[in-house]
Amino acid sequence: MRLLKKRRDIQSDVASLKKQNKTIGFVPTMGALHMGHLALIKRALNENQTVVVSIFVNPTQFNNQEDLVNYPRTLDSDIELLSDVSKEIIVFAPSPKEIYGDQVTSISYNFGGLENQMEGKFRPGHFDGVGTVLKHFFEIVTPDKAYFGEKDFQQLQIVRRLVDIENMSVQIVGCPIYREENGLALSSRNKRLNQNQLEVSPLIYQILTQVKNDFGTKSVHMLNKWVSEQFENNDELTLEYFEIAKVSDLKSIQRKYKNTKYRAFIAVFAGEIRLIDNIALN
Ligand code: PAJ
Repeated sequence: MRLLKKRRDIQSDVASLKKQNKTIGFVPTMGALHMGHLALIKRALNENQTVVVSIFVNPTQFNNQEDLVNYPRTLDSDIELLSDVSKEIIVFAPSPKEIYGDQVTSISYNFGGLENQMEGKFRPGHFDGVGTVLKHFFEIVTPDKAYFGEKDFQQLQIVRRLVDIENMSVQIVGCPIYREENGLALSSRNKRLNQNQLEVSPLIYQILTQVKNDFGTKSVHMLNKWVSEQFENNDELTLEYFEIAKVSDLKSIQRKYKNTKYRAFIAVFAGEIRLIDNIALN
């Protein structure tokens, strides 16, 4: 494993790898690495000769300053973890200045409406920040393939749109959600959950699986109502949104049509900590 912090260093490493005809996989992260990240990294190692893992808490994608300040930063243990995985990993952990220079600002994107749904509604500017940082990273790393988790399904669809808009040649690979045995989707934010919150959070996935089971027989209205009822008397978890949406445009639906793929999406607060999850319904 190699740790690089400067744009010019990673660019010269990449140039020499390309000269040797090595393929480059890229896994962008914000660090506080867990098994969900590792699953992406292992997949990338299987499919490429070298894998670049970026660790960068991207300021422009946080609409909430408190969330940015509290986001876990564990670079030393992240590096320790990755050094045990493979020597073919290059960790790129730049400073904000290295990526943004003196102007920490986002490009304003039109992702064809994907950016206005769900996370986009509740986190204004979030996807402009994600798009901007990934544009910078893709230009610096010039990967053959880049790996993203379905955990952030809306982000994955937006990244596919981004590479079209920016006319980039990177292939985007979506990877399944990695869960605890109790169903809780792994997230760097889980590190901030207290014992009570950890105990109740698996409810989120239980609700999603129940919705999946009932999707064939119950109406969207009934499912929406049932989900909100599950949170009514819950002291630990507060529902922010639950939506059943089309995979193609992520617009929420009121009724089902044949030959259309749907997913259920949920965002929940456990105290101050915001958790998201989703599931394929058909
Ligand atoms: P981060 O939240 O660190 O996630 C990095 C990648 O890991 C994302 O593609 C995310 O979907 C994936 N991931 C996280 N938890 C996962 C899980 N339980 N199962 C499968 N994949 C999981 O997403 C970001 O960072 C940022 O927005 C980033 C893309 C790095 C841009 O700043």
